[in-house]
Amino acid sequence: MHPMLNIAIRAARKAGDFIAKSVDKTDNIETQQKGTNDFVTNIDKAAEQIIIDVIKKSYPEHNIVSEEAGVVEGKEKDYQWIIDPLDGTTNFVKQFPHYSVSIALRIKGRTEIGCVYDPVRNELFTAQRGAGAQLNSKRIRVSTANDLAGTVLATGFPFKAKYHAEGFMKVMSALFVDCADFRRTGSAALDLCYVAAGRVDGYFELNLKPWDQAAGELIAREAGAICTDFAGGTNYLQSGNLIAANPKVLKGILAKVRDNATDSMKK
Ligand code: IPD
Ligand code: CA
Ligand code: CA
Repeated sequence: MHPMLNIAIRAARKAGDFIAKSVDKTDNIETQQKGTNDFVTNIDKAAEQIIIDVIKKSYPEHNIVSEEAGVVEGKEKDYQWIIDPLDGTTNFVKQFPHYSVSIALRIKGRTEIGCVYDPVRNELFTAQRGAGAQLNSKRIRVSTANDLAGTVLATGFPFKAKYHAEGFMKVMSALFVDCADFRRTGSAALDLCYVAAGRVDGYFELNLKPWDQAAGELIAREAGAICTDFAGGTNYLQSGNLIAANPKVLKGILAKVRDNATDSMKK
């Protein structure tokens, strides 16, 4: 195993176990509002510090981009860790047991390592570029669905960007006619891992941040998924608009996006 994946796993497990231990101690959880419908807790921040400390101990000069801390500069600019210490903060605050820790490493602008840990179920999703994707060390693959018929699709509502509500609902509505059902779990990182494991047949969401998707996107691709933005291109880390599924399901989702999304969503 790549030594940097080992460090990512160590950091994700340490932070995830801390989050899982903290969830019941509601008196110790302090929640702040960052923006419309957007929250952060002291647990997000403490988990983030745990991760940064583990990474910096082994790689003091690597760069880090993390949701709450922002950019932690290091001299080795070619190495960039992308961290979401708690993906699913709304779930965590509501005690809805579904959230994760997401850590990716990009080397010279290419994602090489992805690690997403679900501390509630003790599920560790990992991938190294070119070496496949694993759940608790066992190889995982995307679903084999041939088209949208019978598929269960995961998504996230654009709750921080409600100006997209109408366009998003039009896409959902068009997809709903052809697929079997939707899931909205509240952790984008886990949604991508569930695509990787074939637990859902596809996933799409608007307005993601790099830390929501960097690790899960590699895990999904290494499990056989294709990832595109809402225009069918590969600009999703920049645009924040991501579709992930096996090639046939992706084609079905993309066609509905092309026909129903507003122009401002098609990027
Ligand atoms: C959020 C979750 C959610 C997704 C949002 C993300 P956070 O991340 O991944 O599922 O719909 O777009 O912002 O804020 O809980 O880290
Ligand atoms: Ca997130
Ligand atoms: Ca987060």
